[in-house]
Amino acid sequence: MTSSAAQQPVPESQAVAGGLTRNAIFLVFTINPGADAVAAVRALGANLAGLVRAVGFRDIEANLSCVMGFGAQAWSRLTDGPRPAHLHPFREFHAGNRHAVATPGDLLFHLRATRMDLCFELATQLTTRLGDVVSPADEVHGFRYFDDRDLIGFVDGTENPAGADAVAATVIGEEDPDFAGGSYVIVQKYLHDLAGWNKLSTEDQERIVGRQKLNDIELDDAVKPSYAHNVLTSIEENGEKLEILRDNMPFGNPSRGEYGTYFIGYARAASTIERMLENMFLGDPLGNYDRLLDFSTAVTGNLFFVPSAPMLESLADAPGPAAKPSAPAEAPDIASPTTGSLNIGSLRGIAAS
Ligand code: HEM
Repeated sequence: MTSSAAQQPVPESQAVAGGLTRNAIFLVFTINPGADAVAAVRALGANLAGLVRAVGFRDIEANLSCVMGFGAQAWSRLTDGPRPAHLHPFREFHAGNRHAVATPGDLLFHLRATRMDLCFELATQLTTRLGDVVSPADEVHGFRYFDDRDLIGFVDGTENPAGADAVAATVIGEEDPDFAGGSYVIVQKYLHDLAGWNKLSTEDQERIVGRQKLNDIELDDAVKPSYAHNVLTSIEENGEKLEILRDNMPFGNPSRGEYGTYFIGYARAASTIERMLENMFLGDPLGNYDRLLDFSTAVTGNLFFVPSAPMLESLADAPGPAAKPSAPAEAPDIASPTTGSLNIGSLRGIAAS
């Protein structure tokens, strides 16, 4: 992708618009106090691509990928440099009994593959490397359910942009040149009241979603209510539709009565997703809210910045609190200043065990 004004090539992004897969693991961590914790996170970022290659090469057709994102507080601990324009703590929305909650989270790892074992192996490698410098905030293992349906029975993902449109929707360009090639991502873990949902008639469910359940055809504008999910999440600016890229995944524990959708949305501006959330939770106009929320409760909420691939790799060298001369010398294994590669924790020698 090339920025039209300055003709500067946009740095390669992480595997944001890399295509949907049948399995995913979502890992959210907080970073523990201390410069060593920050150094270890920076080191992992610098070596993530190598780690994905090592695990993913065991079955390249399984298309293993991993996106790493950073929360607002974490970014301040990682670098003293400029901040991505839209990076801030997750914005909550609250009205009636609907609440888009903000929950702790400094780091996101979005692991995807057509095989769960590859996701699992990579998650194991990541968590082992991070060790006790992070604390787990949330972990969800998602799966595709029949023909890409969520657990409320509707096909989920149909209107996602694809190809160049997906890149245009998710990758920051000249609007924030320091962070070109990056993206924003919002995640929310929703739990469904499936018993309540299933008591509704199919027609009522279809009016809530805005599409037919069996064949996934969009409801005609003449019959689609203004509160339909796909009306409230359709955002326009200057007559143009603002798109995001979603890769929602069902998850659950039937024995515990837990049935959920893990919402994940990537965008080049966090405000696009925030406007959708505002419409869903508060309503557009106010009070005309998304009825999906009468049956779905958000139990987590985070906003992360996803740096471009080269920026992630160079994090270990970035000027920042952990690299200051005043930082305690307790992190001997951070990047070598000449090569930018890590001396300890380097993944070059990883064996495919
Ligand atoms: C309980 C959680 C959610 C469920 C079960 C859900 C399910 C669905 C379904 C079934 C569709 C229609 C098919 C499609 O186009 O993908 C859809 C569309 C969509 N959803 Fe959600 N969704 C959830 C949360 C969210 C959230 C939190 C957002 C954004 C903040 C969002 C944004 C969108 C968008 C942008 C569309 C496409 C609208 C269009 O252009 O037609 N969804 N969702």
